[in-house]
Amino acid sequence: MTESCNQSAPELEWLPLLVPDMPSPHELLPWLERMHSARHYSNFGPLVRELESVFAQQFGMADEQLTTVANATQGLELVLQALDLAPSSRVLLPALTFVATATAVLRAGHQPVLADVDPQTWMLTPEIARAACEAMRIDAVLSVAAFGMPHDMQAWQQFERDTGLPVVIDAAAAYGSQWLKEAEGTLVFSLHTTKSLPAGEGGLVVSTRPGLAAKVRQLSNFGINLNPAVGMPVGALASLGSNAKMSEYHAAIGLRSLQKWDLRAQQRRALQSELMLDLHQASGHTLTWQAQGPGGPLMAPTLLCVQLPDTEARAALEQLCKQARIMTRRWYQPLLQHMEMLEQRCLLLDTPNARALGQTLLGLPFFLGMTPLHKHRVCGVLAAMADQRQS
Ligand SMILES: Cc1ncc(COP(=O)(O)O)c(C=O)c1O
Repeated sequence: MTESCNQSAPELEWLPLLVPDMPSPHELLPWLERMHSARHYSNFGPLVRELESVFAQQFGMADEQLTTVANATQGLELVLQALDLAPSSRVLLPALTFVATATAVLRAGHQPVLADVDPQTWMLTPEIARAACEAMRIDAVLSVAAFGMPHDMQAWQQFERDTGLPVVIDAAAAYGSQWLKEAEGTLVFSLHTTKSLPAGEGGLVVSTRPGLAAKVRQLSNFGINLNPAVGMPVGALASLGSNAKMSEYHAAIGLRSLQKWDLRAQQRRALQSELMLDLHQASGHTLTWQAQGPGGPLMAPTLLCVQLPDTEARAALEQLCKQARIMTRRWYQPLLQHMEMLEQRCLLLDTPNARALGQTLLGLPFFLGMTPLHKHRVCGVLAAMADQRQS
């Protein structure tokens, strides 16, 4: 046997699902130098303050109406704590979301009530929440900007006014897409590496509710009072808080990422449109995508989640992707009610749309820097899936 016969074809590299788009160490240097010369590394230092003041300008809000936090999970927990709901309150949230939405409710001492989502936008809407309130007692709503799709905050403000229930939006993936647009509301964003404004880890709480963001800030700093204007000494323990402050290191990354955000968002939108078109064609026009809701467009998509015609098609696509060494993920699945840790701890409403989505959604590779070959490989498996279905 000759040597060349022994050589097998080099194995194709796995095509990743996501590739973080983080600033390089070189890009971060100016901010790190500033941090180091100020000798201020955490505890609401100059970089965190600067980041917060850019956010305040973007939202057209006063500085005290927002605060950074260590991550969105802590942001959600502390917002729920700051709302001062009675213990074991029922908090309505969608069955289709990331686990942190539910664990934040439980860790804040409340009970999640799992609701259905709209079949087109894949989100819990004010209409669904109204129906839930007719079915059982609900004490607060924690809706989710699913995969970054923004909510119509005027509609949620109207819901709050009609029902008197506080509404919080888990806008973890929606930085740059979810705005208040003159409405009242409370939003919690994630600045995780995989999100549209990556800071490594980080979160942002924005709220028009009087005193809420300031309370979250205090809770993120152990609950220690830092405000000389309230009738309590600075340094006194005002509430039972946690440590959920954003560090100056993370703020440095966030500030650099902000400088590139517009360009990156544009590139992400372009990549998403291109992939949606090409994959839809390759699949024989059998794919469904998340629809834009009344809240407006998704400005900086961070992942690509597709709905297959049925559960068999999804299984076939997963198998084909595995064979072609393409990573996939069932984003937001299994549904919360199917997780052992959660099923006994949540109340469940009827969720037919979420169940259907839970059987048909699949995440495909999506990252800036995808090459024509990467795209070709993904189109290839969708074409193979279409062929399999026809035969
Ligand atoms: C809907 C949702 N909520 C909360 C989180 C948690 O965000 P963080 O990682 O900043 O805690 C995520 C993270 O992906 C998410 O998708």
